[in-house]
Amino acid sequence: MLVDIHNHILPGLDDGAKSMEEAMLLATNAVANGMTHIIATPHHHNGKYMNASSVVEDAVVNFNKELSEKAIPLQILPGQEIHLYNSIPQDLDKDLLTLANSRKYILIELPTNHIPTFTFDILFQIQLRGYIPIIAHPERNMVFRKDKQKLYDLVNKGSLVQITASSLIGEKGRALKKYTKKLIKHNLVHFISSDSHHYVRRPFLLKDAYQYVREKFSEDHVTYYSENAKHVIFGTVFQPIPPISFKKTRD
Ligand SMILES: [Fe+2]
Repeated sequence: MLVDIHNHILPGLDDGAKSMEEAMLLATNAVANGMTHIIATPHHHNGKYMNASSVVEDAVVNFNKELSEKAIPLQILPGQEIHLYNSIPQDLDKDLLTLANSRKYILIELPTNHIPTFTFDILFQIQLRGYIPIIAHPERNMVFRKDKQKLYDLVNKGSLVQITASSLIGEKGRALKKYTKKLIKHNLVHFISSDSHHYVRRPFLLKDAYQYVREKFSEDHVTYYSENAKHVIFGTVFQPIPPISFKKTRD
């Protein structure tokens, strides 16, 4: 069982797959990457796209039907990539989707150029309500890029982190590759996901990413990331490996 917890595979909902045909090509790409389960996470509340839970649920049912008709061995589960906004904690019990209906894990995207002042407070409130926030691709945030300790602080307070496969294997340039490797070394990564949008331009790349982790880090790292993603599907909690502060090192 191999799980991707962040991607834009559902057709026609956001800037991901544009049509059912494109979504099927992306699904084939997912299978070629060894994936068996995909938590689809269309953008939500990001200023451009709104994808209410019912819309996502319906799209998942449709897409699963199509996949089974075409005999593609892949199961899609619902989710959202929720852009950080003020009333997430209040909306959690009604409007928002947890990943794979786990009632535990939610995927949160921060702006790329800053970290809003209310971020710590919102993430804390989410946790008080019994949910675990997963911060999507922090490597794309300018503040986290400059100050890794800020990410450490969030992880130290119970948030989890997902990095994107393409960043780690260097598809997005050397700086992001170096940065994401550093996050791994400091135990600030809990999931590696595809954030796939398109079967050619932004494909899954998870096979390459896991292979890279295997070579540069260890098989245990690969197991850790893939097991963590399974926990998301099952809605079970796991004990993250304690993060290492940047203050104690010369990094
Ligand atoms: Fe995404």
